[in-house]
Amino acid sequence: MPHSYDTPPAVLDHPLEVGPDDWQGPAFYQLMTALVVPRPIGWISTISASGVPNIAPYSYFNLMGSDPPYVAFGSTGVKDSLTNLREVPQFVANIVTMDLLERMNFTSGDFPRDEDEFTWAGLTQVAAEKVRPFRVGEAKAHLECEVMHIVTDRNTNIVLGRIIHAHVDPSVWKNGRVDPRLLDPVCRLSGSGYAALGDLVNVQRPQWKNIEGTIGLEAMPRAERR
Ligand SMILES: Cc1cc2nc3c(=O)[nH]c(=O)nc-3n(C[C@H](O)[C@H](O)[C@H](O)COP(=O)(O)O)c2cc1C
Repeated sequence: MPHSYDTPPAVLDHPLEVGPDDWQGPAFYQLMTALVVPRPIGWISTISASGVPNIAPYSYFNLMGSDPPYVAFGSTGVKDSLTNLREVPQFVANIVTMDLLERMNFTSGDFPRDEDEFTWAGLTQVAAEKVRPFRVGEAKAHLECEVMHIVTDRNTNIVLGRIIHAHVDPSVWKNGRVDPRLLDPVCRLSGSGYAALGDLVNVQRPQWKNIEGTIGLEAMPRAERR
């Protein structure tokens, strides 16, 4: 039975084995958000039934499927975004690029529900194509979504949204696709830590027709720096 620790130790002198209820306070949250990195950020815009726009960043966020295309984001507790989605079940996942890092962070403030974070952060409200919530005009890409399910387990609320429309600015497009360097997305680490894209590499997907008849790792596709 591996020995564990009652609190996060300053120095780990043997491997850590820990469950979500073993530590007090935010320590397990800090551990898991330091392990699952980098995370993309969904800058989620919603609107209340009475028409007050809302925008907030969520890094419990990712694509969940492609046929049909889905995104999911997770709200810890019932925040304004979730309350709005229960009234108007649509959202825009605005893509956060490095030039918008500070403004994205500003919109995570605990603004009262009737305060419009777009205005506070100097962001332009642009009408979306297929949903009621606004796009962030300054964002280079947007995914417009319809809420299909909200899964609730205690304080965790997972919003499953079907993507019904995408919008991309020409400035991030090169050779027939979105260029990651031009997009320059923000990568979330833990706490107040963020990163930009580092080295870019390509590695081909394995195919049995290339593997059959070879030995060991001979046919393993190799990574190439771009
Ligand atoms: C980069 C970043 C990522 C965040 N990710 C999440 C998240 O995944 N889930 C969550 O509940 N809160 C997250 N937060 C905190 C929310 O953005 C914050 O609670 C915000 O006030 C919620 O806004 P709302 O009440 O308008 O929905 C994040 C904050 C930042 C700065």
